[in-house]
Amino acid sequence: MKKYKKINSKPGPMLYPLPAVLVSCASGDEDNLITIGWTGIINTTPPMTYVSVRKERHSHHLIKESGEFVINLANVDMVKALDYCGVRSGRHEDKFETAGLTRVPADIVAAPMVAESPVSIECKVVEIKEYPSHDMFIAEIVACHVAEDYVADNGAYEFERMRLVSYNHGKYYELKSSELGFFGYSIMKPKTAKRRRQQQKTKKEKKYRK
Ligand SMILES: Cc1cc2nc3c(=O)[nH]c(=O)nc-3n(C[C@H](O)[C@H](O)[C@H](O)COP(=O)(O)O)c2cc1C
Repeated sequence: MKKYKKINSKPGPMLYPLPAVLVSCASGDEDNLITIGWTGIINTTPPMTYVSVRKERHSHHLIKESGEFVINLANVDMVKALDYCGVRSGRHEDKFETAGLTRVPADIVAAPMVAESPVSIECKVVEIKEYPSHDMFIAEIVACHVAEDYVADNGAYEFERMRLVSYNHGKYYELKSSELGFFGYSIMKPKTAKRRRQQQKTKKEKKYRK
């Protein structure tokens, strides 16, 4: 592994790469889409997430009033729409229309899901933390929807095939599916590694035979 000599940079939000997501929200008769980079997971059980939104965004009051939103993960086909929803406000336009995206009713929250997104996550706000630039909407994940195209026969979710987008210092990138390892592989016993390799080989052969 290379050892780097680093320069001291001024403090900034440099935690990259990030998942850039499309958040849908609604209040009353109105709905909207906003691109969000400041998001993440904060708890496993119950599953909890957050989105940090500036007060001046049109979406801010929709999320605040309804206490609900949907996080829609973005794939490569959505990247132009993702950028568009992050540079144009929905105050005077219907971004679903202009960005060419389709509303689908969610199960629990009133905000619509985005049909073109491979994964939509319904969220209910439990707390709002006000920070100098952004308000952090802390929320419980109340439902998840995964595109059938990415659910294997055994029910496994094939995230590696979704061609999801990440945001890295001002640019969008496709998350490539060249696996480097998996959770816990650094401490795996050689016997388990061998068994896993064998399982993957069988899986590939099965797929080839289909
Ligand atoms: C990649 C990207 C990430 C963004 N992340 C955030 C964010 O985390 N919070 C935020 O308030 N605005 C963020 N924005 C800006 C809003 O998406 C943008 O101001 C949008 O036009 C607001 O829409 P609205 O006024 O319809 O709510 C981001 C924009 C882009 C392009």
